[in-house]
Amino acid sequence: MDFKFTEENLQRIEAARKKYPTALAAVMDTVYIAQEQNGYISDEVMSEIADVLGIDKVNVLSVVTFYTMYHTKPMGKKHIQVCTNVSCMLRGGQELYEMVCERYGVSNMGVTEDGKVSVEEVECMGACGYAPMIAINEDFYENLTKEKVNEILDALQ
Ligand code: FES
Repeated sequence: MDFKFTEENLQRIEAARKKYPTALAAVMDTVYIAQEQNGYISDEVMSEIADVLGIDKVNVLSVVTFYTMYHTKPMGKKHIQVCTNVSCMLRGGQELYEMVCERYGVSNMGVTEDGKVSVEEVECMGACGYAPMIAINEDFYENLTKEKVNEILDALQ
């Protein structure tokens, strides 16, 4: 199935392009918009990004595969990222990660069978002062305990 940007997203990409001196510099913005629309970056999506920006597909591929925030396979509707880097690890991040994996019966980058939830162990997300933390899609949850995480996950739709 071919991927095409919506008209609204084409306008967002055009606005992003105007922020930079070259189309290549807008590749991260464009990949972000593509992931919002499609949920992940497939081969077809990479082709469309390259076409829309007028750049080589390899430039899209290199960005998509370098940054862990971009996904090349479908993730859950709720993508839970658990930080286990130093500050979070010292305050129980590893235990939180293991608890979340166990709760959903998945390992790193695993997706539940119903496609509702995926779990990812991540490096520092820049919220060290509020460790330990998790992110669910775009939302950060900080100063967590196992109890708080379970409350947050209980409330997930
Ligand atoms: S170490 Fe977890 S947010 Fe920085």
